[in-house]
Amino acid sequence: MHKVYSSSYASSNSISMLPAEPKIFHGRDAEVTHILQLFRQESPRIAILGAGGMGKTSLSKAVLHHHEIATKYHANRFFIACDGSINKVELASVIGAHLGLKPGKDLTKAVLRNLASAPPTLLILDNIETLWDPVESRKETEEFLSLLTDIPTLALLITMRGAERPSKVQWTRPFLLPLQPLPREAAQKMFLDIADDNHSMEEVNQVLT
Ligand SMILES: Nc1ncnc2c1ncn2[C@@H]1O[C@H](COP(=O)(O)OP(=O)(O)OP(=O)(O)O)[C@@H](O)[C@H]1O
Ligand SMILES: [Mg+2]
Repeated sequence: MHKVYSSSYASSNSISMLPAEPKIFHGRDAEVTHILQLFRQESPRIAILGAGGMGKTSLSKAVLHHHEIATKYHANRFFIACDGSINKVELASVIGAHLGLKPGKDLTKAVLRNLASAPPTLLILDNIETLWDPVESRKETEEFLSLLTDIPTLALLITMRGAERPSKVQWTRPFLLPLQPLPREAAQKMFLDIADDNHSMEEVNQVLT
């Protein structure tokens, strides 16, 4: 028998639109494979960590558009840029807008209810360090993440600067290690993709050292 899900889920008022798949993307095959393996477990909770500019957001977008993920979650994939939110209420309001909920004072409960009655859903919270780094909002952010991860049908993927995972969440094992710089060959490919055509490999290597 099919489970009946809330009709308010991802209504036509939803502002949700997925960001594009990265057109230039090299050298992260091992990480993509690792993440896909984590997705084969029940209720994956995954943190992509690493220093600023290391490629966390790009990796999350590559996963978002991977055919296995697209097939599993279809339209129930949400990519939320957290860098415009300074606290949990603002974040809940952005997620609520993506889900097509009516705006309100604090959408935390409505978001949780909506996701709990939805079909299997992937929620990507990108650059969540904007809420986790400041001491004032860390605790409420961790509590919100913990409530989200109480929803068994929800797959949660966060990206966050640094090497520490938020506590109060059972992150799926084996943990993905913080991203390291791209291997040299992948960095060369990336450079050649974005630079004009007049560069020798010697020049490219000079830039990359
Ligand atoms: N695997 C890759 N191949 C080619 N280019 C990449 C790759 N990963 C990232 N880039 C490029 O590097 C830049 C930084 O990537 P991205 O925004 O994903 O990093 P980030 O770790 O999310 O950064 P931040 O810490 O600022 O959030 C972008 O211009 C992106 O296109
Ligand atoms: Mg990022």
